[in-house]
Formats: sequence, C-alpha cells, structure tokens
Amino acid sequence: MKWVPLGLVRYTFCLGGLSVFFFLLCILTGPFLMMYYIPSVDRAWADVQDLSNVVPFGRFLRNLHRWSGTLMVICVPVHMLRVFLQGAYKPPRQLNWLVGVTLLLLTYLMAFTGYLLPWDNEAYWAATVGMTMGENSPIVGSKGPFSILSQDKDIAYILRGGTMLGQPSLTRFFFAHCVAIPGAMAGLMGLHFFNIHKAGGMSGPL
Ligand code: HEM
Ligand code: HEM
Repeated sequence: MKWVPLGLVRYTFCLGGLSVFFFLLCILTGPFLMMYYIPSVDRAWADVQDLSNVVPFGRFLRNLHRWSGTLMVICVPVHMLRVFLQGAYKPPRQLNWLVGVTLLLLTYLMAFTGYLLPWDNEAYWAATVGMTMGENSPIVGSKGPFSILSQDKDIAYILRGGTMLGQPSLTRFFFAHCVAIPGAMAGLMGLHFFNIHKAGGMSGPL
C-alpha cells in the first residue's frame, strides 16, 4: 500500500453508505413518480411532461430521482475502486466482492431501464442500441458468436417482448425498473451487509 498517495485509501469515504443513501432516495421518490406515470407508449411522454410542468413538486421529485440515480451510478464504481485499492476483496471477503459486482451490474441496469421510461426519442434509440447489443451477444443472441437461439427465442426477443420495440417492451422495462431489479438489489444488499458482519466487520476505518 506504500504507493497509494498519502495513505488516503485507508478510509472507505463511506462510499458504500452513500450508494445505499442514493438507492433509498430513488426507492422513496420512485413510487411518487409511479402515481402519475403510466407505462403506455401513447402516454408515457405526456405523463413525464406533466410530472415536470403540472404536478405539484413533480419536477422536484423527478430531479431528485434522476440525480440520486446518477450519483449512485458514480458512487458504486468508486466504492468498488476503494475496495480494490485496499485489497478488501481478499479472503474472507471474496464472496462480498462477487455480490458487489452483481450489485454494480444491477445499478447500471436500473439507470438504463429508468432512462427508457419517458419513451422519447432518446429512450427509443437507447433501447434500440441495447436490443442490438443483446442480439449480437455470444450464445444468448441470435446474431452473436456461438449463437444457439433463433431470432424469436433469443435474449433481445425476450427483453423486447417481440421482434419490434413497442408496448410489450415498455411494460417489461417498467416492471424491471420498478419491481424486479430493485427487489433483487434490496435482497443482495442484505446479503452484502450480512457478509460484512460475518467477516468480522469492516477491513479498516470508515
Ligand atoms: C437504483 C435505483 C434507481 C435508479 C438508479 C433509477 C433511475 C431512474 C432514471 C435515470 C430515470 C429517468 C428519469 C428522467 O427521465 O428524468 C428514472 C425514471 C423513473 N423511475 Fe427510477 N430509478 C431507481 C429506482 C426506482 C424505483 C424503485 C421506482 C419505483 C418504485 C422508480 C420509478 C421510476 C419511474 C416511474 C420513472 C419514470 C418517470 C420519469 O422519467 O421521471 N425508480 N429512474
Ligand atoms: C449498490 C451497490 C453497493 C452498495 C449499496 C454497497 C454498500 C456497501 C457498504 C455500506 C459497505 C460498508 C463500507 C463502506 O461504506 O464502504 C460495503 C462494503 C463492501 N463492499 Fe459494497 N456496496 C455496493 C457495491 C459493491 C461493489 C460493486 C463491490 C465490489 C465489486 C463491493 C464490495 C464490497 C466489499 C468487499 C466490502 C467490504 C469492504 C471492507 O471490509 O473494507 N460493493 N458495501
């Protein structure tokens, strides 16, 4: 650790704690957005406009949600970097590293699916890029290397709910963003904290 500048990386900077904080802010503000947002391809964009311009405190809640999500996307990888620089991934904490990597991927998926919900041009084309990546993925994509699945059974088809982007896609993104991924993340966070307890607490000072 002698090469680390000023020994600064001895501390956690509470980056994991900040990630939890921003996650909780998203969980708190998300349901309020849900009260006005209807995941329909015809209504989503108008609902998001209403949230920003008509609903009392709508713009505030939307911005709080968006900024919390963005700050979480920054804090989680920096927390990972801290764990790496301290060597806190070494036994007995190796399982927690793996749980962490899964949490990192799920955080990115949350940001991605959230970005799609307003169903504007940006969302549509981002979804198109995401689905093309799915199609071209190895094994699970119909056009990727070592493909074993046909176009109507591959990962992009499942995520989109068909061969074209449309209402089934938005419904799936909504369910993933508001129920499936946050549920999985809450469970994994519980495991993450239990693992810290099992390893006899933190590897160093907060
Ligand atoms: C890790 C947690 C979360 C992250 C990173 C996240 C991220 C995002 C992002 C980036 C947007 C787009 C915001 C915008 O266009 O201004 C969004 C929208 C949305 N999120 Fe989340 N979110 C999270 C959790 C949740 C939860 C738990 C719920 C509901 C229970 C939720 C409900 C919504 C709704 C309804 C929208 C659409 C409204 C809008 O675009 O303003 N989010 N989210
Ligand atoms: C949603 C994402 C995450 C949350 C909410 C979270 C939360 C936390 C919290 C609150 C701590 C206690 C210490 C601190 O605040 O730094 C911690 C420790 C830890 N985290 Fe995370 N974490 C996340 C992602 C990750 C990632 C991506 C990794 C690595 C791949 C990771 C690996 C670890 C390890 C190994 C420890 C124990 C560190 C030690 O004992 O010094 N976590 N995490």
